Amino acid sequence: MLYNKQEISLMADAIQPNMRNKTNILPFQHIVQDFFTADHFQGKHVVDLGPGQCDFLDIAKRCGAITYGVDFDPCVTQLGKLRGHNMADAQNFQESWPYEQNMFDGIFCRGSLNYFTTIKDGPQDAIAFLTRLFSSLKPGGWLWIAPWAKYSEEQEAIAPEIFNLVHIFLKKHGVTVAVPSRGAVAHYGVSYLIPRIEIWIRHLRNFA
Ligand SMILES: C[S@@+](CC[C@H](N)C(=O)[O-])C[C@H]1O[C@@H](n2cnc3c(N)ncnc32)[C@H](O)[C@@H]1O
Repeated sequence: MLYNKQEISLMADAIQPNMRNKTNILPFQHIVQDFFTADHFQGKHVVDLGPGQCDFLDIAKRCGAITYGVDFDPCVTQLGKLRGHNMADAQNFQESWPYEQNMFDGIFCRGSLNYFTTIKDGPQDAIAFLTRLFSSLKPGGWLWIAPWAKYSEEQEAIAPEIFNLVHIFLKKHGVTVAVPSRGAVAHYGVSYLIPRIEIWIRHLRNFA
């Protein structure tokens, strides 16, 4: 959501066209209502990967969290700073992870993570990326990720193997992979045109 002329003008130059107009905050409220309790936020260090218009970070901050974000779009980084969030320098979090020194209580990501694009030499690249990400999450930390996992034509043949490897990794790390119903997809704002819509959750309320 964009709240004033300054924010609207700032985001008019956003890299992703869908970030240039006001986003709908309702699906974020649904996510928080359905999966989270006050304990997930109060005094907790929470990061959003690719926060866009920073709607989730705003809610987390209002609920008492210390909020962090990383986005490759300098407009988003500036918006996050304006709203009082700790923003890493604009960068691709899949290529360079800016939070090596941080341990988070929670990691959130809606629609900004594509582990297929981390693959350069082979499937192990995707697992290496996830391993680096998970190493910044405290052992009891929560996770809510709706990946935007889209593979290229060249990756089509290995895609089932990648999905399988990623699911094995997630299971090993206590993450539940839920395939949302059509209604849930709209409710949580994850109606993506990708081969497989999933929501990864850990140490949160169960998927209804
Ligand atoms: C589709 S938008 C989603 C924004 C927000 N999470 C939401 O659900 O409304 C993707 C956001 O992530 C950022 N982004 C996508 N891939 C990224 C990457 N690999 N590294 C850093 N930022 C990325 C984009 O600039 C944009 O702000």
